[in-house]
Amino acid sequence: MAILVCGGAGYIGSHNVRALLDHGEEVVVLDNLWTGHRAAVPEAVKFYEGDVRDSALLDKVMASHPIEAVIHFCACSLVGESVAKPLLYFNNNVGGMQSLLEAMQRNGPAGRGLCPVDKIVFSSSAAVYGEPKHVPILEDDEKRPTNPYGESKRMMELMMHWVSRRHGIRYVSLRYFNVAGAFHDGSMGEDHRNETHLVPLILQVPLGRRDHVAIYGDDYPTKDGTCIRDYVYIEDLAAGHLLALKYLRDGGESQIFNLGSGDGYSVMEMVSAAREATGRDIPVEVAPRRAGDPARLVADSARARSVLGWQPKVTSMKDIIASAWRWHSSHPNGYPD
Ligand code: NAD
Ligand code: UFG
Repeated sequence: MAILVCGGAGYIGSHNVRALLDHGEEVVVLDNLWTGHRAAVPEAVKFYEGDVRDSALLDKVMASHPIEAVIHFCACSLVGESVAKPLLYFNNNVGGMQSLLEAMQRNGPAGRGLCPVDKIVFSSSAAVYGEPKHVPILEDDEKRPTNPYGESKRMMELMMHWVSRRHGIRYVSLRYFNVAGAFHDGSMGEDHRNETHLVPLILQVPLGRRDHVAIYGDDYPTKDGTCIRDYVYIEDLAAGHLLALKYLRDGGESQIFNLGSGDGYSVMEMVSAAREATGRDIPVEVAPRRAGDPARLVADSARARSVLGWQPKVTSMKDIIASAWRWHSSHPNGYPD
């Protein structure tokens, strides 16, 4: 039996591929390399360069490998870009999910595949909640996305909900909070050519790529005026996917889980942790607020902890940033492509 990892060449997908391989799973990767890197996936892994919206390709993959489950990481995922290009987000994210679920239906329990492709683990996001009324956020709290990216993720969850009821497919939707860090030995990490995430941007200062970090607003109603986020370590996140897969294999019902550490850190605290982790001075400059940034996003992950047995292990911001620093300082130009 094999796991199809769609978007397995991206930041989170590639770490999951690594975790699956280390767990003895057979893995097949499909990725169009829009933002991913072939070099992020081991040579030995069967790799299809192609689009998840390509139905014929999905049928070919499902007819060629005994796929029992899909882990779906493919997405356009830049909040600002989603506001500027909403149709790109609905086409790629929602259209990608439609194409994948249709292929699972064709090759599913009543289908014609090598084996029924009847389980899906999906990368959802805290962005489905929008501006929360209270934190920590629970899965059943109000979902009011404030941008097309978050809206597309919510629509993808709802598609899985209705399709699972009709077509015998079960799903786990994992709502990630802020994913950060790199594989512990520094051999793989985050390489987005259009980088918007805080931790890699902070580390561009000690790398000599920028002379300061812009702090997007210091007048939020938080302890030091900067935004608070819940940073979850990439390998802990990958462990959550293995547990979600096990849960579905054990017959678990379709379910949604927040994946976050449950602790919030401000932007300034992240910069301080980066100074400690790198031993370098990291100057900051206060810039205007970034449109659409909620002041505080912190997960209540009690459901993942009790139902899946998920327990994040690396919860020190200094340790998470140190792992990212090992990757960036040893690969200043990212992957070789
Ligand atoms: P990423 O851009 O590094 O990875 C996405 C991968 O999907 C890339 O390799 C890209 O080439 C591929 N892809 C995109 N569209 C495709 C398509 N149509 N067909 C085939 N491949 C396609 O992003 P990431 O940071 O690794 O995020 C992975 C997933 O997790 C995304 O769905 C994202 O929305 C979600 N997520 C990320 C975070 C975070 O903090 N990074 C937080 C919440 C949710
Ligand atoms: N920030 C700065 N300066 C920067 C970059 C970011 O001050 O140069 C701040 C942002 O304003 C925000 C915090 O750092 O307050 C984190 O920003 P990121 O861009 O790293 O992450 P976001 O919280 O905006 O979004 C991330 C993912 C989304 C996901 C969301 C869920 O990118 O996909 O987490 O919490 F939906």
